[in-house]
Amino acid sequence: MSRHVVVLAGGLSHERDVSLRSGSRLYESLRHHGMEVTLRDVDSDLIPWLIETKPDAAIITLHGGRGENGAIQGILEMVGVPYLGTPAKNCRLAWEKNIAKNLVERSGFTTPSWMSLSHNTFRDLGAGALIDALVGYLGLPLMVKPQHGGSALGASVVRSAGELPAALVGAFAYGEIVVVEIFVDGVELAITVIEEADGARALPAVEIAPSSGIFDYESRYTAGLTTYFTPARLSDEVAAAAADLAIGAHRVLGLRDVSRTDAIASPDGTVHFLEVNVSPGLTETSMLPMSVSAAGRDLGDVYANLVERAIARAV
Ligand SMILES: Nc1ncnc2c1ncn2[C@@H]1O[C@H](COP(=O)(O)OP(=O)(O)O)[C@@H](O)[C@H]1O
Ligand SMILES: [Mg+2]
Repeated sequence: MSRHVVVLAGGLSHERDVSLRSGSRLYESLRHHGMEVTLRDVDSDLIPWLIETKPDAAIITLHGGRGENGAIQGILEMVGVPYLGTPAKNCRLAWEKNIAKNLVERSGFTTPSWMSLSHNTFRDLGAGALIDALVGYLGLPLMVKPQHGGSALGASVVRSAGELPAALVGAFAYGEIVVVEIFVDGVELAITVIEEADGARALPAVEIAPSSGIFDYESRYTAGLTTYFTPARLSDEVAAAAADLAIGAHRVLGLRDVSRTDAIASPDGTVHFLEVNVSPGLTETSMLPMSVSAAGRDLGDVYANLVERAIARAV
């Protein structure tokens, strides 16, 4: 019997456009795989629709807040639709960069030293002294990003103290809390983890080399602006450390089915954890599909297997 799968895409986030592209790609791949697929946006009719239609499973390709903070996952749990991906309550751990870094660091991995600060603190204590304290504590250069980020929106590099106020304003535009961390010079990596019958395994890491030097929104979604190498050009030791980190982050944060860890390998071979994504992009320029191809696998096939896992654990 053919499965009926709903792919949730769109939503009202800054990454709506990317989500629609991810959703359509998955829609095509799964249909090609013989599944009945409904591509659906998230709106006020969603809950009644789920209850009435009772799809066999849901896949969330929403990026940004609602897709990654557990809200939609929670709704699917409440209406009893099996879904592919991380349980609602664990999505929160991954979504809060500060918490994810903390838990991953406590399990023995490296993450750039950081401070997370709320907008209120700047208002209450005055920006000047706080900026001096921050630079004194972490040094330079720094990376400033929203606590709840995505697609590098609101993220910027700060090379001198004078650039910090503008970077903070840019990050606070996306939310109340920012993460300020040490800028790590090195090779940027994206490591996908997929759970299969024999456990969680890391696919070949993607090495990201943006021509601008910064993997910002434009470099991500404009074909040709970034060169990707899959597998990443790493020594066996560093490749193994990257895989260990991604599997470790997947486990310690309680992620399920699929995740993508963003990291940077510094010249000394240390792999620094940046963040983890529970709903990785699936567009033509996204890293997860590159890793799947490099592993000699087909995207529709991988997701069809994950759909079966989601259905099986719900019974
Ligand atoms: N500490 C850091 N050092 C160097 N570059 C960083 C650092 N943190 C983030 N970046 C850059 O910013 C991008 C976005 O950061 P990331 O933490 O992955 O947030 P998000 O993808 O949620 O916006 C990364 O892909 C990387 O290019
Ligand atoms: Mg990222």
